[in-house]
Amino acid sequence: MHRIIKEKLPRHIAVIMDGNGRWAKKNMLKRGMGHERGAESVRTVVKTCRELGIQYLTLYAFSVENWQRPKSEVRALISLLETYLKSELVEMKETGIRLFTIGDTEKLPKTVRDLLFRAMEETSGNSGMVLNLALSYGGRDEIISAVQGILRDAKLSNIDEKTITKDVFSQYLYTADMPDPDLLIRTSGEYRLSNFLLWQMAYTELYFTDVLWPDFSKDELIEAIVDYQRRERRFGLVSDQLSKD
Ligand code: IPE
Ligand code: IPE
Ligand code: MG
Repeated sequence: MHRIIKEKLPRHIAVIMDGNGRWAKKNMLKRGMGHERGAESVRTVVKTCRELGIQYLTLYAFSVENWQRPKSEVRALISLLETYLKSELVEMKETGIRLFTIGDTEKLPKTVRDLLFRAMEETSGNSGMVLNLALSYGGRDEIISAVQGILRDAKLSNIDEKTITKDVFSQYLYTADMPDPDLLIRTSGEYRLSNFLLWQMAYTELYFTDVLWPDFSKDELIEAIVDYQRRERRFGLVSDQLSKD
């Protein structure tokens, strides 16, 4: 039995799934194979989070910067996404998962976009866990699009600039109505955010592991959650101010 404290679960876990290419190289395989094995880790992590009762899981699957990779790799990643959406829809429905997406999905090929929106539509009544896929996602783009949204609304009605609070601003982000991530996991020994959820991660607990994404297992996930549960989240206060329960 694992050592997770049920009452202290992170409400929202975000993951930068990194290291597929290096995993493939290490195993003398093509990069595409690394991504395929990475998709297996996605299945494991989604299933485990659902079983544990995590409410939101955001997976960084494709960044805006990733469009600049070689065309063949972009194609392979998109086709893997297509396969994933097709194969997982039944499971998502059965396990009460609600699919959501953040990012500039307009950039995705229409076939994938249609699949994505169909899966979102068909799971929209589910309340088990939100599986949020970051696709063609960039944190800075998201912030710019929020500013554009505010300016658009300002033109339509007379918005007083003082009404733009942190809460109002958050509502213009792709993640409107979602809680900020409590825990960020990044695999493959890279210590950076790579343009992921820049606004939302102001107070997120960061967890880095050297494990490459295709090797990331249920036990690794549990280890990350246990590590998170050992931390004291102070949000700028002093220890004594925090209620001890
Ligand atoms: C993560 O693995 C998958 C995506 C970024 C889509 P990488 O493809 O970045 O793997 P490395 O970093 O080259 O090992
Ligand atoms: C971050 O990984 C993006 C995803 C996991 C989708 P990258 O491999 O693209 O990040 P960098 O380039 O090493 O920062
Ligand atoms: Mg990488």
